[in-house]
Amino acid sequence: MKLVVKTICCIGAGYVGGPTMAVIADNCPDIQVHVVDINEKRIKDWNDSNLSNLPIYEPGLENIIERCRGENLHFSTDVERAISDADMIFLSVNTPTKTKGIGAGQASDLKWIEKSARQVAKYARGNSIVVEKSTLPVKTAETIQKILNTENDKKDNQQSNFYVLSNPEFLAEGSAINDLIYPDRVLIGGDNDDAISALESIYLNWVAKEKIIKTNLWSSELSKLAANAFLAQRISSINSISALCEATGADIGEVSKAIGMDNRIGSKFLKPGPGFGGSCFKKDILNLVYIANYYGLNELAKYWQQVLDLNKWQNRRISKIIIKNLFGTLYEKKIAILGFAFKAETNDTRESPAINICKDLLEEGAHLSIYDPKVSSFQISTDLGCSHNYKSKEGSWISCDSIEDAAYNSDAIIIITEWEEFRTLDWEKLSQVMRFPAWLFDLRRITNVEKAREFGINVWNLGATG
Ligand code: UDX
Ligand code: UDX
Repeated sequence: MKLVVKTICCIGAGYVGGPTMAVIADNCPDIQVHVVDINEKRIKDWNDSNLSNLPIYEPGLENIIERCRGENLHFSTDVERAISDADMIFLSVNTPTKTKGIGAGQASDLKWIEKSARQVAKYARGNSIVVEKSTLPVKTAETIQKILNTENDKKDNQQSNFYVLSNPEFLAEGSAINDLIYPDRVLIGGDNDDAISALESIYLNWVAKEKIIKTNLWSSELSKLAANAFLAQRISSINSISALCEATGADIGEVSKAIGMDNRIGSKFLKPGPGFGGSCFKKDILNLVYIANYYGLNELAKYWQQVLDLNKWQNRRISKIIIKNLFGTLYEKKIAILGFAFKAETNDTRESPAINICKDLLEEGAHLSIYDPKVSSFQISTDLGCSHNYKSKEGSWISCDSIEDAAYNSDAIIIITEWEEFRTLDWEKLSQVMRFPAWLFDLRRITNVEKAREFGINVWNLGATG
């Protein structure tokens, strides 16, 4: 039976749901796409006529929203209506790590997924295809299917058929639109050929057929966890070598280049830094560790746990190095923090290495002046757990509107996020407003450290001795 999709509902208007649906709407003018969310403020922001107020920042997103919103792309809080109108429903709600109960600190909290599945079962009509977009532990599709069937049995009137598919998202924030338009692959897991074809036909509007891989449900779910674990593992590997470079006199830039030119290894994801952040890597590896332990594969669990431990170690060792170089005390010292987002080109701060580093410095009594081109001061205060202009013996922080403001009178500049504008810092100018002896800690190796040195600034460059 051919399943035709004319209307889509996506539950969850976040970093994944929003951009993904925008790209689908842009490429499928005959499909009406409704993105719904229980967060009224988020939906209000998605509908804001001023596009710079969109709830998430992604290069290229504003243009698509401008083209499609109100045409075939709609944002609302009316979840029930959107479900009942839809032929295909994407679940794109968040799945944070559980904070209590069984699996706390490791397993994903599936309460939002379960709640959404129940809503779908209650309000969906006819042959609905339910697509997992959220990253989920392996075998979650089975749970979703069970919920859908159980709720369905309770209906005394019309019965619905549900087909569950897994269609994991591989977009990286900051390049989400580009990743969605030109994916390396699209993965569809499921066991119903009609439902798989219906989803495939949507992607075929802009993705070549050979890039669409079809697998069973569990392979699809596991591939997402495994892909993120492999990527994170590369970062922990290169970061571990960065520390060895500092100890031996090798240079991590040179080592990374030499390793990456081996075709079998490849050059991507070999940039050393303060450790990986973002909403996915840590959560997905924790999930993998939890599943491995659940199946009694304890050695495997330990192996992947080490990737996370190394990441935390990198974070902490950097805080210690900064404190040590600033004569072991940050009391009365002003430190400019350049970048707070977990990576460039996003306003997302989830698991950003900046959070731990700033907290460590505040505890040592530092006064931080933080500048990030896209992160709001409200977000910084939420992440640091203390308000703007907060002052105490433990230190204080303010958020600044420019690099110069942040650097004014500072004893040190720390580059935490690799924003483009930090690549071309004017060290002559900055050296004139800093307090001497002045320090630069470049945690992303993006600025011209030689220039900084020329103007008398002491430099600590990650993964190098000089
Ligand atoms: C996504 C995926 O869904 C997650 O599994 C993956 O690992 C990371 O990326 P993301 O889009 O980044 O999550 O999350 P977020 O920006 O928090 O968006 C989720 C949205 O779902 C929120 O706006 C939240 O309000 C909404 N939501 C949550 C609902 O609309 N209904 C619910 O019941 C729960
Ligand atoms: C990641 C995956 O790349 C994506 O496929 C998946 O869907 C979601 O998780 P994201 O977290 O948005 O995407 O960004 P990514 O570019 O992977 O960066 C993650 C973290 O690793 C960032 O903190 C980044 O700064 C860091 N990183 C990345 C490095 O430190 N070095 C690198 O070489 C690459």
